[in-house]
Amino acid sequence: MESAYCRYVVPADGNAIMIGAAMSPPGEERRPHVHEAAGVPAEIEQELDRSFELVLTPDGADGIVVTPAVRVDAAYLRAAGPQLRIVANYAVGIDNIDLGAARSSGIVVTNTPGVLTNATAEHAIGLILALLRRICEGDRSLRRRDHWEWGPDFMVGESLEGKELLVVGPGRIGRTVARLAEALGARPVFAGRDDDLRALLASADVVSLHCPLTPETRHLIDAQALAAMKPTAVVVNTARGQVVDEQALVTALRAGALAGAALDVYEFEPVVSEELLALDNVVLTPHIASATRETRLAMGMLCVDALRAVLLEGRTPPNTV
Ligand code: GLV
Repeated sequence: MESAYCRYVVPADGNAIMIGAAMSPPGEERRPHVHEAAGVPAEIEQELDRSFELVLTPDGADGIVVTPAVRVDAAYLRAAGPQLRIVANYAVGIDNIDLGAARSSGIVVTNTPGVLTNATAEHAIGLILALLRRICEGDRSLRRRDHWEWGPDFMVGESLEGKELLVVGPGRIGRTVARLAEALGARPVFAGRDDDLRALLASADVVSLHCPLTPETRHLIDAQALAAMKPTAVVVNTARGQVVDEQALVTALRAGALAGAALDVYEFEPVVSEELLALDNVVLTPHIASATRETRLAMGMLCVDALRAVLLEGRTPPNTV
């Protein structure tokens, strides 16, 4: 149905209604204009190119592909123009998009759920193990050519086996992290919206964050939450940077009130707090939890399919937010 050009309206409830379909061979009519706000893999670019006219700016675009690094607010949508019908977020988290503004302009917003669950969970487990087993610290030490020799007490870490893993946010990714951690002998515990987080934090050894960023979860891990944790506990964040009060985290780590942190996301991304860089008991990655080749292609295809659904077929994509 790639060559079917349809007209439709999207009312506030987000359900597209087709009001007419013009079936013209491609080339005879203007192909919908799509803007990519960030570089996408070549395979995805080719797919977009098969169906759309790729344009360099959002101004005048019918569809836009954005990433978590692009803030899509009312001003952005206004600047793009009234012809804009869909914003496809190349991510599952949609905190970068003002959904109210999009909805009131009848703009469909889609995300990429499901296809990044395993990759993100794998990365969270990787961060947990790297932190507990001091893998990055050992790597840095060798690269500095520090003197070393095998010793019973040399660079001793902690095992994940037997530890209580608190999964904050029992969604797809959180549940997968719990399953993988359980296979490694950890005891997963879940903290959902209605649970007493402070009480659960008090007994956790590893706290792994998997909740979306919302007004309720912003600074969920603040100075008080950190103070509730055991000094031997660690925090792992593959969700969104703003779920953690980064300054409070730095203070807790420097005071020895927390044993370590492993972070893929940052409160002021792409800026990473200078103090974190100086701490050896901190593992840092640059927001790459979903960054496997397969996953990034699958995410891209969800964006392409959503753009085709809205701009060519007059359908509401299943991954509409
Ligand atoms: C990445 O951060 C995502 O939300 O998919």
